[in-house]
Amino acid sequence: MNKEVEKIYKRKIKEFQKHNKLYYDKSAPAISDREFDELKADIINLEKKYSFLRSTKSPSDSIGFKPSKNFEKFKHKVRMLSLSNAFDREDLINFEKKILNYLNEKISLEYSVEPKIDGISASLTYLNGNLTYGVSRGDGSEGELITNNLKTIKDIPHKILKKNIPKEIEIRGEVFIEKKDFEKLKDNFANPRNAASGSLRQKDPKETSKIPLKFIAYTFGFISENKFKNQSDFLNELKFWGFLTSDYNKVIKSTDELFIFHEQFEKKRFDLNYDIDGLVYKVNSLQLQKRLGFTSNAPRWAIAHKFSADHAYSEILNIDIQVGRTGALTPVAKVKPVNIGGVVVSNATLHNEDEIIRKDIRIGDTVKIERAGDVIPHVLEVDIKKRDGKSKKFNFPKKCPCGFDTIKEFNKITKKYDAVRRCPDKGFECEKIAVEKIKHFISKDAMNIDGLGKKVVEKFWDLKFIKLPQDIYNLDYQKISSLDGWGSQSASNLKFSIENSKKVTLDKFIFSLGIRHIGIENAKIIADFTKNIKSFLNLLKKDKIKELINIDGIGETQVKSLEKFFQNQTNIKVVEKLCEILSVRDREVKNKGKLKNVSFMFTGKLQNISRAEAKSLIEENAGSIVSSVTKKLDYLVTGEKPTNRKVEQAKNLGIKILTQKEWSDLLN
Ligand code: IVH
Repeated sequence: MNKEVEKIYKRKIKEFQKHNKLYYDKSAPAISDREFDELKADIINLEKKYSFLRSTKSPSDSIGFKPSKNFEKFKHKVRMLSLSNAFDREDLINFEKKILNYLNEKISLEYSVEPKIDGISASLTYLNGNLTYGVSRGDGSEGELITNNLKTIKDIPHKILKKNIPKEIEIRGEVFIEKKDFEKLKDNFANPRNAASGSLRQKDPKETSKIPLKFIAYTFGFISENKFKNQSDFLNELKFWGFLTSDYNKVIKSTDELFIFHEQFEKKRFDLNYDIDGLVYKVNSLQLQKRLGFTSNAPRWAIAHKFSADHAYSEILNIDIQVGRTGALTPVAKVKPVNIGGVVVSNATLHNEDEIIRKDIRIGDTVKIERAGDVIPHVLEVDIKKRDGKSKKFNFPKKCPCGFDTIKEFNKITKKYDAVRRCPDKGFECEKIAVEKIKHFISKDAMNIDGLGKKVVEKFWDLKFIKLPQDIYNLDYQKISSLDGWGSQSASNLKFSIENSKKVTLDKFIFSLGIRHIGIENAKIIADFTKNIKSFLNLLKKDKIKELINIDGIGETQVKSLEKFFQNQTNIKVVEKLCEILSVRDREVKNKGKLKNVSFMFTGKLQNISRAEAKSLIEENAGSIVSSVTKKLDYLVTGEKPTNRKVEQAKNLGIKILTQKEWSDLLN
C-alpha cells in the first residue's frame, strides 16, 4: 500500500517538476493554471495524508517560490550540513561509541541539548556587526541570497552593537512559524515548516513580511575569531547579542540522561509555542567538535534524536460532538496542536460514547494520540500520571445538537445495542445532518461539483444560501462575488461548474441523495433495475420499493432504508425538485456477456484509448485477453505499426484480424 502511494506521489512530483519548469522557466505552461494548482494540491494532500512522503522537490517546500534563478546564488563559506538521526536508545549509544572510538579516549562527554525546531535553516553574515548577507541553505554548498526577506523577520538584528562581536561571523538558525500563526494558514500548507519555507522564499520581501516568521539562532558557520569554549557558551552569547535562542536549551552529561530527558520532553512538547520534531545533541566542547569534524553530509559531533512519527502526547482542551451524514454522533477531542510525523494534529477522534467510558478519557487529560498512515488521528490512552484535580468527566449528550433525542440501534445479528449513538435519521430536519448531506451531494462520486468544496458548503450554509440540495441551483452569484475571498471570476467559475453538473447519470443521482446504506455500488444496482428517472420515482408508489428485494446485491437493510427515506416528505420534495432541475440520463444497458468465450490480442498502438482501457472494455463484456498468438486466439486487433510477426502468425493460423475500428464496431 505504502509503496503504491509512494509511486503515485513520485509520479506527481515528476509531473509537477516538468510543469513548474514550463511555467516559470520557459513561461510556456502546457496545462491550465487550474490544473497546475490541482496537481500541487494533490501532492500537498498526499503529504498531509501520508507523513512518510517527502521530497525536496515538493511544491509544499516551494509554494510561491520561483526557481532559484530569481535569487542571486551565494556560496557558503562553511557548508551547511544536515544532522544524522537517532530513533532509539541503541542509536544513541552507538553515536557516543563512535565518538569515543574516533577520539580514542575514555572521557565522559557533555552535550548541549537543544530542541530541533521544525522550520528551515538560514545563515546570517555580520560584517563588523552589520547584517550583510542573509542566505538560505540551498543544497548546502550554495544557497539563495535572501537578505531582504530575512530582514523582515523581527527577531533578526540588523546591527549588533556589542563590542565583542567578531569582525566576521555567520550566525545560523531556524526560520519558523509559531503554532498559533500556523492555525490561520493551515488550509494552505501541510505543516508549519512548509509555510515558513513558502513565505521566506517569496520573490517580493513584502510577501514574506505578511506571514509572521520567527528566528531562533543555534550555531555559527564561518567565524573570524572564535574564543568560545563550549556550544552552551556560544548560545548564551547569542542571547547577549540580541538573538532569540530556545528557552529549552540545556547541558546534559550522559546518554542515559539524554534518553530520560527525551522521554519527558516528548510528553510536553505540545506545550511549546512552536513545532519541534526531536532534540539535537551536540558535543558541548568546541575543541572536541573541531577534532571530530564531519562525515560527507553531517557532523560527527551532533545527532538529532527524533520524536515518534506516528504518535504524540497532547492535552484535551474540549470534546466536540460531530454529526455525520447518517446521524452518527462522534466525539472528537480538541487537543493542543501537536506535530505528528509532519502533520499538525489538533483533533483526534474518540470514536464513540463507549470508548470514552472504557478508556476513562476526561477533558484536561494528557493523552497519547496516534496518527499512522491514512487513519484519522485517534486517542490511544490517557497518561494517568499527568491527571490533576482539574480534569473533567465528559457527559455524553443524549440529544443531538439539533435538539432531537438520540438513539442506539439494536443490532439483530450481534443481539447488542450499537456503540454509536445516533440522531434518528430525520434527514434534512436535523441541520447537522443536512449540511453533511449537502457535502455528500456535491462530492466527487456524486454530483461532482468542482469549486463547491466542503468549506464553501459550510460557508453558504451559515449564510443561509443553501438549505437543501436544490438551492445550489438557485444561487445569487452577484452576492457570492462580493463575499470575502470571492470575485466575479471565481463566482462565474462556480456557476460554470454548477451548470455543468446538471447533466448526471442515474446511478450518480441516486448515490448523491445520500440514502443510508445506498453506496455507489448499490446505487448502480438500483439504476440498472430502474433504468430511468421516471421508474426510479415510481419507487415512491406503494410497495414498489419492496420489488427491489429480488435484486441480487440488495438486502432488507437497503430496502428498509429506502422506505424510510421516501417516507420523509422533505426527501420527496428534494427528489422531485431536483428532477425538475437536473437532466438525469437513462442508465445505459450494457451488453454484458456479449463477448463470452471470445479471446483477443492487441498489437500496435491504439488510437484514443489505452491498452488498459481496451482490456477492461473486453473484460466488462466477459471477453478475455491472451498474450500470444495461438490457435486459442479468436481475434488479433491491429493498431498503428503492428508487429509483423504476430500478424503473419495469425494469418497462418487462420485467426481473424481486426482493425481498431472493426473491433470497436464489434463492441458496439
Ligand atoms: S545544528 C551541522 N541545531 O535541523 C549541524 N540544527 O537536520 C547544523 N535544526 O538543517 C545544524 N534545530 O534546519 C541545529 N538546534 C538546532 C536545530 C537544527 C533545528 C535543523 C536545521 C538543520 C536540520 C538538520
